[in-house]
Amino acid sequence: MATNSKLYFDDENFRELNSFLAKNKERYSQVVILTDTNVNETWIPQIIKACEALSEVEIIELEPGEEQKNIDVVSQIWATLLDLNADKNTLILNIGGGVITDIGGFIAACYKRGIAYVNMPTTLLAAVDAAIGGKTGIDFNGIKNQIGSFYHSNGVIINPSFFDTLPEREFMSGFAEAIKHVLIARADLWPELKKSSNPKDFVAKYLKDLVEVKTNIVAIDPLEKNERQYLNYGHTLGHALESYCIDHNIEVTHGLAVAWGCVLENDIATHKGMLSKEDNLEIREYLTKVYQFPEVNASAIPDLLEICKHDKKNENGEIRFAFLRSPGSISSKQPASIDEITMVLRDHLA
Ligand code: GLY
Repeated sequence: MATNSKLYFDDENFRELNSFLAKNKERYSQVVILTDTNVNETWIPQIIKACEALSEVEIIELEPGEEQKNIDVVSQIWATLLDLNADKNTLILNIGGGVITDIGGFIAACYKRGIAYVNMPTTLLAAVDAAIGGKTGIDFNGIKNQIGSFYHSNGVIINPSFFDTLPEREFMSGFAEAIKHVLIARADLWPELKKSSNPKDFVAKYLKDLVEVKTNIVAIDPLEKNERQYLNYGHTLGHALESYCIDHNIEVTHGLAVAWGCVLENDIATHKGMLSKEDNLEIREYLTKVYQFPEVNASAIPDLLEICKHDKKNENGEIRFAFLRSPGSISSKQPASIDEITMVLRDHLA
């Protein structure tokens, strides 16, 4: 199995997509585009045109949203692929956010025991995270990403033009993962990030570096045995806060919850003597300047702990974290007790 995908950075004329397709002219019998109705309509005709130069093109368009990530939708798409006579040499082109890249990768992984796919992430969140690293899958029985496989794409084509039309909350959701990448692996960029007043300018300047944090980690540990768990920084408590907010109709995005999770998990790391108070404070000051965290009451603590207890990183009945030691240095598989987690939650929740 390939352990990584080639990265391409495209422009508004889709030159990289055109050249990828031209180079692989003989390889793919047809292109099936999987996208959703949120993707900016102006791009799709241009992409179809690029694909038509290569071969037949079909388009499957889903409604947007996490609700699509289920086995019924997957099964309908497999049926459509059979109707279209899609053979082993079909290329699936996933154009969308993380839902599309997860579901499209999973469809490709299983269809005829595996066909090629390329991700074109249209959100910053997907570009720096979901579209990279070969995690594919769907939600099952109400639990996120329960069914899936590691199956790498044949390429990830990142076109920053897509981000120009992203709603602010979506951009800032992805930006949190970008900040996380700086904190876990690019200490050299941290001083500039702290000073920068415009997230869009920072992303425009460093998009390649931010994406490469993830590709480099995946290359070392494709199956998430060790180093890939660094990417879970902020995610144990972030995921608990995200799930709690969604269940209680409190406005949240994945990135906002991750940024919040970083602030809280840093306090546990400082309590354990792993992260200095100075670094902790600097990171908190930056994250609270950039994000406004939702109001969640301390009565949420039992529910949040319960969600943490079911986190898939836990081992031997212990809740495990990736704790920051300093910008650029992180340790995974670190346990924290219920008391330590409760103490930090009490400090932060109203
Ligand atoms: N989202 C973290 C990973 O792909 O490993």
